Amino acid sequence: METLHQSPTDPGFVQNPYPFYETARKAGPFFHWADYGLTCTGNWAAVSAIFRDRRFGREVPAELAPAIPDHLRPFYAVEAHSMLELEPPRHTRLRSLVLRAFTTRRINALQPEIAVLAHQLIDAFPAGEFDLLAHFGQRLPVIIIARLLGVPETMSHDLLRWSNAMVGMYMAGRTRETETRAVAATKAFVAFLRGYIDARRHDPRDDLITELIAAEEAGEKLTTDELITTCILLLNAGHEATVHTIGNGVKTLLQTGHDISEATAEATVEEILRFDPALHMFTRWAYEDIEVMGHRFQRGDQVGLLLAAANRDPGQWDAPGKFQPGRPIKPHASFGAGLHFCVGAPLARLELVTALPILFARLPGLKLVGKPQYGDVYHFHGLTRLMVRA
Ligand code: HEM
Repeated sequence: METLHQSPTDPGFVQNPYPFYETARKAGPFFHWADYGLTCTGNWAAVSAIFRDRRFGREVPAELAPAIPDHLRPFYAVEAHSMLELEPPRHTRLRSLVLRAFTTRRINALQPEIAVLAHQLIDAFPAGEFDLLAHFGQRLPVIIIARLLGVPETMSHDLLRWSNAMVGMYMAGRTRETETRAVAATKAFVAFLRGYIDARRHDPRDDLITELIAAEEAGEKLTTDELITTCILLLNAGHEATVHTIGNGVKTLLQTGHDISEATAEATVEEILRFDPALHMFTRWAYEDIEVMGHRFQRGDQVGLLLAAANRDPGQWDAPGKFQPGRPIKPHASFGAGLHFCVGAPLARLELVTALPILFARLPGLKLVGKPQYGDVYHFHGLTRLMVRA
């Protein structure tokens, strides 16, 4: 296995990680990413296989669980109940409760609301040059997920702030200050939800919080702490990646001179998700000794799955480095696969397929102002802002 050196905070890599992925993929199915001290793969077949292999999982093996420093306890106390960090049977119970409330009916019913909201946000665009990420990309997903859960929309600025601070914990270059901000945001988020859920117990509506409260009150199914964590997970996961998919997608469409209409929306959105996804790496633990494509993993080994690299594997796509919205739709890695496949994929797709054609129809002269810059936030991959002129 080859060892490769690449700082995830190097400015060239942050702006364009794809040349490194290319080198890495050519090194073989697996390589050692020295800067992370981690075996990684950007090979499509290996990424797909490991996502689906139950001998790998997200939950840290008990004997390897790190000691949590005191100052981080509030953050990890919330993480401890997150389905994203658990394996069956707890994962199954938490995920099935969310899926029961997250029905296709409820998601599809949001379509007209997403369209109205897109129009309202566009109506409110400032004149001249403005940041499309702040005025559109960030607003739409956070308002929609707040409505779906049943959290007041007036909270959307706080939700955005808390969520941004919390996801800092997963970024390269995390500092003590990042941790302090994340813990403060966690405490504020938990305090808000504890109070809000209490108030909502006597105020049932047709929303997800009502459904989750009912599951909690039905007994063994969900504890209050699990309910709070599930709401935080949905609120955070429910917009971070969608915000940046809107940003990366609009940037790519404008840079490559493509349009997106209702008729082409589905294929174009899949190509946006494949070509420049918002989340680039997820890890798995090996739970036993396993061989994958010639590489031997031992129990307790970790592996990094490079989704954005897998999405450009020439073994899977013709001319993978080209943005081609007309290419046949095939599965990509951007929502993961297997047990932890993104719960919100249907909602994210609906938001993108609905809002982007409205944006392009309403602003046919939309142009980039300057070159958009990606933030130093690996393994996330999103723009700091997206300056445009209508
Ligand atoms: C374009 C937008 C999105 C992208 C690219 C994305 C990507 C992902 C990926 C890659 C995973 C799997 C992580 C892993 O296997 O380790 C995941 C899981 C998850 N996502 Fe998303 N997501 C998006 C939008 C959403 C939305 C809108 C929601 C909620 C409404 C959501 C909720 C979740 C949850 C709850 C999980 C954990 C599932 C589990 O552990 O079983 N995501 N997402």
